[in-house]
Parts: sequence; structure tokens; C-alpha cells
Amino acid sequence: MFQLQDVTKVYRRREQEVVAFKASSLAINQGEYVAVVGPSGSGKTTLLSILGGMLSPDRGQVLFDGQSLYELPIAERTKRRRERIGFVFQTFNLVPYLTALENVQVPLFLNGVAKADQEERAMTLLGQVGLGNRLDHKPSELSTGQQQRVALARTLANNPSVILADEPTGNLDPDSREAVLSMFDQFVREGRTIVMVTHDPAAALRANRRLTLSDGEVQEAMIRNAA
Ligand SMILES: Nc1ncnc2c1ncn2[C@@H]1O[C@H](COP(=O)(O)OP(=O)(O)OP(=O)(O)O)[C@@H](O)[C@H]1O
Ligand SMILES: [Mg+2]
Repeated sequence: MFQLQDVTKVYRRREQEVVAFKASSLAINQGEYVAVVGPSGSGKTTLLSILGGMLSPDRGQVLFDGQSLYELPIAERTKRRRERIGFVFQTFNLVPYLTALENVQVPLFLNGVAKADQEERAMTLLGQVGLGNRLDHKPSELSTGQQQRVALARTLANNPSVILADEPTGNLDPDSREAVLSMFDQFVREGRTIVMVTHDPAAALRANRRLTLSDGEVQEAMIRNAA
């Protein structure tokens, strides 16, 4: 699904160079559930952004389903991202002035889905995450765990083949955390792919592969047998 070859991302600030991420060869296959761990500043978000087509590396090639992501015209890359990749951010990134239902409709709207179908699909998804009775609530009228579940419904709206998640359970109570992780388990059971940055050791154990980053380098790629 993803192949990185000789990829380097360097940030330059006031004469200082930070190698934010580096990988000579890294492959992530379809159906894998990958946990990305490592200390703050080790390059986890940088890796996710590169995989998601949002951050062009300085060197090297990023293949997504055999195609060189950063050699595609920007419009093509954006289209691919909208259609195939779902993002979960630690800060949810919900639109504050839209209701839960409207937030979930956004990606469908961007993909040109008809209005009635947008509403129906968004309602179904919000029902699946247990928020069928909160459709008209704005983010500020929802609890943190509920906001994360709206974000998850939005992520799933376009039926992505891969989810890129940055600390998806970061500030959730145990029940909401478990709700998110079981939806991820289900997603992987359907043969789809997840790359999840996490500081949560128990969450990392549910993945079947672990990448440990240290100063931008992939230190270890340990594969555990899937349960
Ligand atoms: N826009 C930027 N300009 C300059 N340096 C940056 C920029 N973004 C990130 N960096 C640097 O790149 C390195 C990797 O950052 P990254 O955000 O990938 O870390 P992270 O592993 O996600 O950390 P955290 O766990 O705190 O989210 C850090 O040292 C950071 O200071
Ligand atoms: Mg980060």
C-alpha cells in the first residue's frame, strides 16, 4: 500500500537543521495495523503527514498503491487523499459552527455526493458511533469523547481504505477510548489498513506491527503475530 524509498524530511530554521524523518526503505502493506511509537519530536506526525500526501519530503519517493504520490499533480493527490485516506487527529478538527451531522457530511460533499445521500450516510455513521441522538449538536455542545466519535464518523464517511490516526485516544475516557479502538479492530478485520501514532501502550498492543521512531529514524520494525 505504502512504500517509502530513501525518504528524508529536513526542517531548516535559523541555520539549524532538524532531520524530522528519515527512512531508507519502509513498506506498509494492505491489512496491516501499524502502531507508531516514540518520544515527542521523534517524527511521528511527520511520518503520518508524508504518508497522507500532505507533506512533501526533501528526498526520496513515496509510493501509494504503486504510484508516486508527490509526483502526481496536486489536484490528483488531493482527490486520492479524499477518496482513499481517512485522518483522525488528536484535536478532532471539527468545524465549530456546523452540527455533528453537517461535520460528517463535509467529506461526502467534497466528493460530490448528492445532498440526500450525504444526510443518510452521515446519519447512519453517527448511529454506528452511538450518536444518533446528537445529530444537531455543535462540537461545543458535545463531550470530548462524543466529539472524537463525530470525528471518527467523518473519517469513515468516504469508506477509506486506510486510516492515518494521530493519537486518536489521547484525551478520551476509558469507554470512548474502547469505542474508538474497537472500531479500529473492526476496520482492520475488513482487510483495511491503519497507521496509528500512540503513546498508549495498551492501544499499541492491539496493532500487529510496531514502528519505533527515534530522532526521525525508524529504529525497529517489530512484527507481532496478529491475534
Ligand atoms: N514546521 C516545522 N518547522 C520546523 N521544525 C519542525 C516543524 N514541524 C516539526 N518540526 C520538528 O521536526 C521534529 C519532528 O516533529 P513531529 O511533529 O513529527 O514529532 P512527533 O513525534 O509527532 O512529536 P509529538 O509526540 O510531540 O507530537 C521535531 O523535532 C520538530 O521540532
Ligand atoms: Mg505529533
